[in-house]
Amino acid sequence: MYQFLTVRRDGPVEYLTLNRPDVRNAFNDVVIAELQRWAEAAATDATLRVVVLGGAGKVFSAGADATWMAAMAGYSREQNEADARRTTAMLRAVNTLPIGVIGRIQGAALGGGAGLAAICDIVVADEQAIFGFTESKLGIVPAMISPFVLAKIGVSAARELFLTGMRFDARRARDIGLVHAVVPAADLDATVQRYVAELLSAAPSAVATAKALIPRVTGRLPEDVAELTATTIAAQRASAEGQDGLRAFLEKRSPGWLPR
Ligand code: COA
Repeated sequence: MYQFLTVRRDGPVEYLTLNRPDVRNAFNDVVIAELQRWAEAAATDATLRVVVLGGAGKVFSAGADATWMAAMAGYSREQNEADARRTTAMLRAVNTLPIGVIGRIQGAALGGGAGLAAICDIVVADEQAIFGFTESKLGIVPAMISPFVLAKIGVSAARELFLTGMRFDARRARDIGLVHAVVPAADLDATVQRYVAELLSAAPSAVATAKALIPRVTGRLPEDVAELTATTIAAQRASAEGQDGLRAFLEKRSPGWLPR
């Protein structure tokens, strides 16, 4: 089905793995097209509730394939820009999936690989993993990933890390908001599974609504989003899942969305 992705399904959970370990899961146009195709299918799959995004081999992802990026010099400006727009479209498609996406980071997440971490909702990293927005060291710029990364790490860390291209460890990645849990490599999967269970115990429509709400409220004045936040909770608490969840709590029973 895919050349450079593997997909394993376990009930409501999909394990999506970048699979180019010989180049440390660097991504080229084929990987981007496959991620786009996967994301479009995932977005309309009503039975899918959680995705775990990982990388095969010793490293999560070494980012954009340098060979592919270098070849862009031989493209027309229009082709070069169209290619970049396809990358942005893929990042947006994954970023806006209406379900929880967990990043499982081992070894390294560099350049666009760190960008892929930024489009996950929850990121778990092995304590030995290294991170970096290394583009400037290669003479390029972390442009397409920048809005997604800035939403996670903020302007101050971005100015330091985008300009220098310096590598940093998993604890620093956690301190700046790119990573949520740093654990020994042996605990990586168990920690991912704890987050999977947390997401599965949350109402699907609440997950989707909260995820869509966050970017719409970010950076806005409370008064400017008052209507949005009021209509959001009004709809959610009157919805089937809102009613089921509130009544289940009061009646000391499980809500209907819990896996049985
Ligand atoms: N694009 C293309 N090829 C890449 C790559 C990338 N981003 N990252 C690694 N590779 C290739 C290497 O060239 C090497 O190929 P070779 O076997 O033909 O020599 C192979 O993957 C293995 O890389 P290597 O560096 O030997 O692996 P490692 O396990 O020692 O280190 C990394 C892994 C990720 C730390 C290291 O490869 C690295 O720093 N890569 C560059 C990451 C980066 O700056 N990315 C930003 C791109 S914009």
